[in-house]
Amino acid sequence: MSEKGHQMYEASLFKDKKLIKTPNLLDLESARKSFSWDKYWQEIETFENGKMNAAHNVIDVHSVGPNRNKVALYFEGDDGKTEKYTFGEMADLSNKFANVLKKLGVRRQDRVFYFLSRSPELYVSFIGTLKVGAIAGTMFPAFGEDALRDRLLDSGAKYLVTEEQLKERVYKVRDQLPELRHIIVVKKGADSSKGEICYETEMEAASSKFTIEKMDPEEYTYMLYTSGTTGKPKGVVHAHGGIVQQYLSSKWVLDLQPDDTYWCTADLGWVTGIVYGLMGPWANGISQVGYGGRFKPEAWYNVIQKYKVTVWYTAPTAIRMLMAAGDEVPKRYDMSSLRYLCSVGEPLNPEGVKWGLKVFGHPFNDTWWQTETGSILITNYPCMPIKFGSMGKLFPGIEGAIVDEEGKPLPQGAEGDLALKPGWPSMMRTIWKNEKRFNEYFRNGWYITGDTATIDKDGYFWYVGRADDVIKTSGERVGPFEVESALVEHPAVAEAGVIGKPDPLRGNIIKAFVMLKPGQKPSDELRETIQTFVKGKLAGHAYPREIEFVDSLPKTRSGKIMRRVLKAKELGLPIGDTSTLERD
Ligand code: WTA
Repeated sequence: MSEKGHQMYEASLFKDKKLIKTPNLLDLESARKSFSWDKYWQEIETFENGKMNAAHNVIDVHSVGPNRNKVALYFEGDDGKTEKYTFGEMADLSNKFANVLKKLGVRRQDRVFYFLSRSPELYVSFIGTLKVGAIAGTMFPAFGEDALRDRLLDSGAKYLVTEEQLKERVYKVRDQLPELRHIIVVKKGADSSKGEICYETEMEAASSKFTIEKMDPEEYTYMLYTSGTTGKPKGVVHAHGGIVQQYLSSKWVLDLQPDDTYWCTADLGWVTGIVYGLMGPWANGISQVGYGGRFKPEAWYNVIQKYKVTVWYTAPTAIRMLMAAGDEVPKRYDMSSLRYLCSVGEPLNPEGVKWGLKVFGHPFNDTWWQTETGSILITNYPCMPIKFGSMGKLFPGIEGAIVDEEGKPLPQGAEGDLALKPGWPSMMRTIWKNEKRFNEYFRNGWYITGDTATIDKDGYFWYVGRADDVIKTSGERVGPFEVESALVEHPAVAEAGVIGKPDPLRGNIIKAFVMLKPGQKPSDELRETIQTFVKGKLAGHAYPREIEFVDSLPKTRSGKIMRRVLKAKELGLPIGDTSTLERD
């Protein structure tokens, strides 16, 4: 690009996107043309013989040299209490935790799980786990006993880090978890008579020196359970080598630069929290904010004002809730620090993008990815004009297409399955103990995302919907089968079918069609009892906000509930092919 062209390009960029800084990625298409992962591996420090450890890149490299005293984490608790940790302190604390695990006998690739509210201890123990070469597994604090049991049992986690307010839920299923050996409790909440280990006591006694385990890039870092159409949630497993892409996408997509203060609103129980609320930004040496409180528009704006957040990564449901709270609310706070905004998790309506522009002076930039992809693969970039409602373009080095049922790419403009050519560094390596399920993701050499989409003539991707029955509610991924299973465990319920019902605020809500057992009478009270029951088993976000009592459910002749028919009826759409429907 000529000097003049460059200037013009930048000038129009600054105008259209209100960019305050020159972006890290100036020209997407030329980056794509000359792209090779090897080139960016040069920016990731490794050990001898190709060994590495992502925790080294995330924390330790910054703890020596100029970033040692730079703040890595500003943590704002629910009570408004602020804590600050430098990269040097994070390195020392995570070393201590690694020593605690060593003392407890942890072995390489053992699973260490956390059932912990967002807290500095969660970040510290996560990094410490990677340092000993074990696999970290986060779980939402909102999980109920069944959700906990399924994850701890399937992963065979030997270590669990939890807290006083949450541990009782673990004890409800403790006797079903033969492999769980050590329960570490933070904030001095440990009961030694139960054999619980006190985090603070052990941390105090532990050395802050630790020799990090040298890992193969293919060895695992973290695993996260996520939902599909059928069966229980699956353990999606990621490897150390993914760090190169976590690093590069944070740099190019979130545009993180050394003097930024960045806030990712996602919980660490979700992949966004791990990859873009911990690993990627820290791999770039960026100061991050962690907020442990609940969602409240005032509290969120206060975080932005208090920490002078510059780059903000959030989700459409949160954006819609902020919009609903009214434009006067942010006016009461100083939002002038913000310079770049991104969104993920569900379709971002054009209204949301524009609202960002109106209220903060910056649009929200949509990003698309999945637990399985391990980092952002389709996205908007600071250097690219936004097409309202589009997810943006492929990340350099990634090949994508819209394919048909046989996995054959369709012509431009056609609607079909969104597919990606496997092999990018942050891609999941397997499904824990379920190679069969892992293999089911692939068709004719393509990784099939489960989403349907189209690509326009300029290479922009447009989201259409899910190809399967997975429900996205408030950005959280919920499988209908999990909810149906929890519902039928209730003594009054005979059968249940669950769908996602479009909702203006939450994207979708979970709707259940429930057939009661003989003698049971539908009532509002029973509806509420069932809702509370499911909440307790699964999670606060995974219960059916709507329950409709029905006399029968549409089923195939083999007895499978036809969610498609339920959904079509709910939406008043044609029911389609019902030739496999059960007939009496
Ligand atoms: C959906 C979240 C529309 C999609 C990081 C995907 C989106 C699923 C977007 C993955 C977006 C994510 N626009 N839909 N920008 N981003 N999704 O595993 O259906 O919780 O397959 O990962 O969220 O959800 P997951």
